[in-house]
Amino acid sequence: MPLPEKNNRVIITSALPYANGDLHIGHLLEHVQTDIWVRLLRSNNITCHYVCASDAHGTPIMLRAKELATEPEKMVEEFRSSHMKDLGSFNISHDNFYTTHSEENKYFSELIYNKAKESGFIESKQIEQLFDESAGLFLSDRYVKGTCPKCSAEDQYGDNCEICGAKYEAAELINPVSIISGQKPVVKTSEHVFFKLSKLETKVANWMKATPLQEAVKNKLEEWFQQGLKDWDISRDSPYFGFEIPDMPGKYFYVWLDAPIGYIASLENHLRAKSDESAEEIWSETANTEIYHFIGKDIMNFHALFWPALLETSKFKKPSNVFVHGFLGLNGAKMSKSKGNFLSMRDYLDILDADYIRYYLASKLSPSIDDIDLNYDDFQKKVNSDLVGKFVNIASRSAGFLKKNDNQIGNSIDREFYENFISSKNEIINLFADLEYSKAIKEIMKLADSANAYVDEKKPWILARDEKNRDEVIKIASTTINLFRVINTYLKIVIPDTCSKGESFLNKKSGSIDDIDTPLTNHKLDSFSPILNRLEDEKLEALIQRGSNG
Ligand code: MSP
Ligand code: ZN
Repeated sequence: MPLPEKNNRVIITSALPYANGDLHIGHLLEHVQTDIWVRLLRSNNITCHYVCASDAHGTPIMLRAKELATEPEKMVEEFRSSHMKDLGSFNISHDNFYTTHSEENKYFSELIYNKAKESGFIESKQIEQLFDESAGLFLSDRYVKGTCPKCSAEDQYGDNCEICGAKYEAAELINPVSIISGQKPVVKTSEHVFFKLSKLETKVANWMKATPLQEAVKNKLEEWFQQGLKDWDISRDSPYFGFEIPDMPGKYFYVWLDAPIGYIASLENHLRAKSDESAEEIWSETANTEIYHFIGKDIMNFHALFWPALLETSKFKKPSNVFVHGFLGLNGAKMSKSKGNFLSMRDYLDILDADYIRYYLASKLSPSIDDIDLNYDDFQKKVNSDLVGKFVNIASRSAGFLKKNDNQIGNSIDREFYENFISSKNEIINLFADLEYSKAIKEIMKLADSANAYVDEKKPWILARDEKNRDEVIKIASTTINLFRVINTYLKIVIPDTCSKGESFLNKKSGSIDDIDTPLTNHKLDSFSPILNRLEDEKLEALIQRGSNG
């Protein structure tokens, strides 16, 4: 997959985390995957807008605020600021982290809804739904449990049975119980608004065909097409925390209607603060813009079916691609707070530097949508052997030889070795561009191995015993420091903190990956100090402790 066009505008998003709980390292996986891609583009001189936001609306948010005896607006703002802080500490380089509970988002939600309505894709009808009389709430499938009408398994949710796989309507459950009040719900009729997705099958299929989606994503989407796309219920009854639907008092946009629109709203808020462009312009159907969404596999239908259809009917630009990743588990099991297998971003940051896990996640990421496991031992081994043992080692074992030269890289380096060393530059860029981060990291570590092998073979520590080899020793060390710089430049998109320390040592910032085309010669270095420490057992133990406290 080629990188985006330099002359195009590029918009990149990570999914909007719900503002009702702490972010965990599963969320981090997605933001690291996105951030590396964003930094790759920037280091190839492609300008992009990386936007995200808090997903502020919906029943769970409303109920959580009630539980905490606060207002949803206030709770959302508190979570938003703590999420921003956490993501910032991991060096996730958003241009804007906004909220879906904003004026901009209300504006775009109404605009997109009205356009869909004008073009005949909105329809209202009466539906029957379970209603919790004591809570005064209609119950979505997740808030009802009962006995499966097919296999009689107990304690099943209102949409499908985890035992026999049957799909059904919540009203079909035997002995349904509201999770909120524990009471038996009643069936009640209410008017709902539908987006006529069934009429947009061909349009969505065409978008899918024209889009280089991952194979596994295409296959999953095919399944939905085989069942036929159904009209989508986009309204919810009061009480609900969200935007009221124009001309329909007491009816609200379903959170999943305004959530992706939050991408546009976040962009708008960002642009207004710093330019005179508008999101309406640059997200318009005819703009030279590329749009990339990074998401987890649980929300594929929202991004690859409903979202392109909504954008189609409202004349906005559809995604250039939707990149989907699998779920991160911890030590071989699903992450779960109640089962004591859970690591929040904050807990991690209390103990370790961001770069260790950024590196580890990158080394595991690929375009596959299979789940990924964070294994603590593997994590420690990889960080220590790759980053400290291979990468940092190149600099630490060579810096000393230049001390005698006033910390100065000499005027001559081993050109042939260097040229050969950088000849895989485009391959590495392409691997990152294709989301083949794991392969890219392997290539980079091969280079680190070859740089270390170069030093092993030249044995400068032996040559240095004899003053007549002075020039030769300086040349070897000057070459090696340049090899370090190449890897430091590649890894900067993965472990920015460490590599910015690497740049301080090199006394040279890299603006773009192409900077390595010209090696450093006659160049004064800063004195060397270790840029990354080993991940020690005690710290890992502390992390494991945190992770098992849930
Ligand atoms: N609010 C919606 C997204 C709206 S986008 C318009 C949502 N929020 S979420 O907080 O539940 O998840 C945010 C993102 O994190 C999703 O892409 C989701 O797949 C991802 N992940 C949540 N848990 C995850 C793991 N354990 N592992 C990897 N990604 C995970 O969905
Ligand atoms: Zn069943």
